[in-house]
This record gives sequence, structure tokens and C-alpha cells, in this order.
Amino acid sequence: MTRPTTRRKGIILAGGTGSRLFPLTLAVSKQLMPVYDKPMIYYPLSALMLTGIREIAVITTPEDQAQFRKLLGDGSQWGISLSYIPQPSPDGLAQAYLLAEDFLAGAPSAMVLGDNIFFGHGLPELLASADAKPAGGTVFGYHVADPERYGVVAFDPDGKVREIIEKPAEPPSNYAVTGLYFLDGEAPERARAVRPSARGELEIVTLLESYLADGTLTVERMGRGFAWLDTGTHGSLLDAGNFVRTLSQRQGMQSGCPEEIAYEMGWIDADKMAEHARTYGKTEYGRYLARLISHPH
Ligand code: TTP
Repeated sequence: MTRPTTRRKGIILAGGTGSRLFPLTLAVSKQLMPVYDKPMIYYPLSALMLTGIREIAVITTPEDQAQFRKLLGDGSQWGISLSYIPQPSPDGLAQAYLLAEDFLAGAPSAMVLGDNIFFGHGLPELLASADAKPAGGTVFGYHVADPERYGVVAFDPDGKVREIIEKPAEPPSNYAVTGLYFLDGEAPERARAVRPSARGELEIVTLLESYLADGTLTVERMGRGFAWLDTGTHGSLLDAGNFVRTLSQRQGMQSGCPEEIAYEMGWIDADKMAEHARTYGKTEYGRYLARLISHPH
């Protein structure tokens, strides 16, 4: 799976209030909650690593930053570089591009929401094709049963994207925009023009509209072979954990495992992998890492 490292930089948006998970998230950030055997943020982090991204900023609330640093460190254990940016108040997803402007320094980016989990055969290829697009933006449309909870894509009769509407009362399609956004180096500049919405947030949909108006936004459909899981409520968090458990027990393979991706990408060597395996020696996760050294997939 070794692929060239991209010049695209990554952002994980892991702030917010997590109020739909209260009281779980009164003292601990949502993105640190367990999804079966790993902290939630491992999954979106893995999606960025699978894209070949090695420079990533983690945006958190000021209060939670220390815990994220304790968990993820500077990233060198996985051969990547992690930095941390505080978001003083949850003023919306598009604000991430303003907060990360210096970090991005004009580079294209992939931003992922810290509570989004992606899984599916062909995911690395889908990510690689979005990464390869030199200008404009790419987002992913996923067919859901309850589109009114998300940003929804309205298509023209010929299948072209006409509009993206945030939480529409009457959804024009079942295609929700997932929390993974590939945007070019203009994103911070475009984000500056976004004004707060009626609910007081800098909406990602407004930023995407600016690309759409210029005809430079691609909406890739993520087919039914993929799982896009949201973990924002008690039920969906438990469902995501059960999904990960079922898959890993049946297949004997992990999803959202940064050590595995780093090793397969050639970013860490077998000695480093053995060190990780020893750290987690008492768990199935540790035994899995040890097996990967002698039997890569
Ligand atoms: P949401 O699920 O919309 O908000 P939330 O996480 O605060 O949860 P709740 O609705 O239960 O209060 O956010 C989606 C993701 O984006 C989540 O990972 C948190 C993150 N986020 C930020 O980091 N900053 C923000 O300003 C917002 C709005 C969200």
C-alpha cells in the first residue's frame, strides 16, 4: 500500500460541545470516547493517514487539548507530525480554516470531523482520487435514511450538483455530505467571506457553496459498499462500537489502526512496530500489531 506522501495537509476538527452525548461528555471530549477498542479520534486520523497525509493539525477546545496531546503526542510514534490548535468556542466547521490558516500556509487540505468513521473496500483509492485533484474541492455524498439531519445534496435532472442545503425540512435527495472535505489552498481566504448563519455558526455548507458557484466543487458518491458512521448520539456511538467489534472479530483485521497504516506506508519500521506491540501486549490490539510484523496483509 506504500504510496507517495501528498503535500496536502490534514485537519481533524475535534472541538464542539458534544451535548447530545451528555452526561458522558461533561468531563471528557466526545472524540476521546471509546469506539469498541480505540478512542474515536483514531478513526478519522486513520482516514487522513490512508490519504498519505503526514502533517496534521488537531483542533480541540482549549480545555481538552492536554488530553489529546497525552493520547496522540507529536505523532512521531507513527511517523507523522501532529500539531494542536485551540478553538475557543464552537463557532462552526468553516472556522477551522481560519484557525488553521498559518498551519496550512497555502497548502491544500483534507479536513475530517473527529466523530466521523469511514470504512469500506476501495477507501484508499477514493481518497487518492480526491487528493489528486489539483484545484477546487471534493466532498462525498452518502445515501442515508434520515437526510434532514445533514447537509443534503440537490441534484439537477442530469445528475449535476445544483445546491447543498443544511438540515432541510424537505430533503431534495437522500445524499448527505459526509464530514470529510478536500479543499484547495484557497479555503482560508474563502472562509473569511463566510458570515455567521441564523444559528450563529460559520457553516461549512456556505464555504462549499462558494466553490459550487465557481463550478469547482465535485461531489463524489460514496457507494453502498462503504460505511459512514456518525457517533454523535448514545445509540449511534454504541452501534459504531458494535460494528467495529463485529468486523474485527470476523475478519481478524482492524479498522482505524494508525500503527498498521504507518507500518504499511513505510513510515515506521519493524522495530518501532514491535515497540507498539509490546506497549499493548495485554490486548488483542497488541497481538494484532505483533502479527502484522511477520504476516502483513
Ligand atoms: P456537531 O456534532 O455538530 O456538534 P457537537 O460535536 O458539539 O455535538 P452536539 O451537537 O451533541 O452538541 O459537530 C460535528 C463535529 O465537529 C464534532 O466532531 C465536533 C466538531 N465541531 C468543532 O470542532 N467545532 C465546532 O465549532 C463545531 C460546530 C463542531
